[in-house]
Amino acid sequence: MFKQWMAYDGQRFVPAVIRNYNESDFAGLIDVQALSFPPPFPSELWWNEEQLSEHVSRFPEGALCVEMEGRIVGSMTALRRTFREGDRHDWASVTDNGYIRNHEPDGDTLYVVDICVAPAYRRFGLGKWLMQAMYETVVHLGCDRLLGGGRMPGYQKAAAGMTPEEYVNQVKTGERTDPVLTFLLRCGRMPVGVVRDYLEDEQSGNNAALMEWRNPFESRTYRIERRSE
Ligand SMILES: CC(C)(COP(=O)(O)OP(=O)(O)OC[C@H]1O[C@@H](n2cnc3c(N)ncnc32)[C@H](O)[C@@H]1OP(=O)(O)O)[C@@H](O)C(=O)NCCC(=O)NCCS
Repeated sequence: MFKQWMAYDGQRFVPAVIRNYNESDFAGLIDVQALSFPPPFPSELWWNEEQLSEHVSRFPEGALCVEMEGRIVGSMTALRRTFREGDRHDWASVTDNGYIRNHEPDGDTLYVVDICVAPAYRRFGLGKWLMQAMYETVVHLGCDRLLGGGRMPGYQKAAAGMTPEEYVNQVKTGERTDPVLTFLLRCGRMPVGVVRDYLEDEQSGNNAALMEWRNPFESRTYRIERRSE
């Protein structure tokens, strides 16, 4: 993947690039993680070089970064999996603790391990551009869908007596906004459930909203329509 465009920061257009990351990018990627996931998020969950080496060697197509003004300002990482009945669903099990040694080269689902944009570069559309690039990767590889567990960092403050499902519902109806869930909805992801004990994430009450995007060219409805044409 190599994509170039002019990103708009509200005042001016600045050249930006999305491309697959490689070893020479590791230090920049770790810096963005530290800025993007401040406490109370556990720093042990920031990328380390060993995890990044696994990403670029096992599944380079799923390792994307965004560059602006000559520096890395965001990244998104995925692996391929096929989910089977009874599989455990939490971040550590599905992503092998972020090491992706369980990547299945013919997996039907492109599973998001992580997405982040450095705070100084947020709200310029870069997260959405990264998501779009990952949707294009889904289509390019012929996967059925993209899936991931979205954080819900506004939950802890709002929680008082509310279940995570109720919280997700309020974000869906627009009654409240959440810094990550609202972003994912604006990117076209569909909520398909809530997973408890997904990740050590105090702000989200350790919950995640499972959010899907289906490959429009692989959907059953599209295939049936094409067959009947
Ligand atoms: C979530 C994150 C990647 C969003 O990146 P971003 O580059 O700021 O997002 P964008 O500018 O592309 O926003 C895309 C859309 O989401 C909306 N959005 C983004 N952040 C939002 C927020 N905090 N609250 C409400 N809406 C938000 C934008 O308004 C935009 O809507 P639009 O398409 O209608 O204009 C970034 O905030 C981040 O890195 N957060 C910390 C790391 C994290 O928690 N990652 C999620 C792991 S599951």
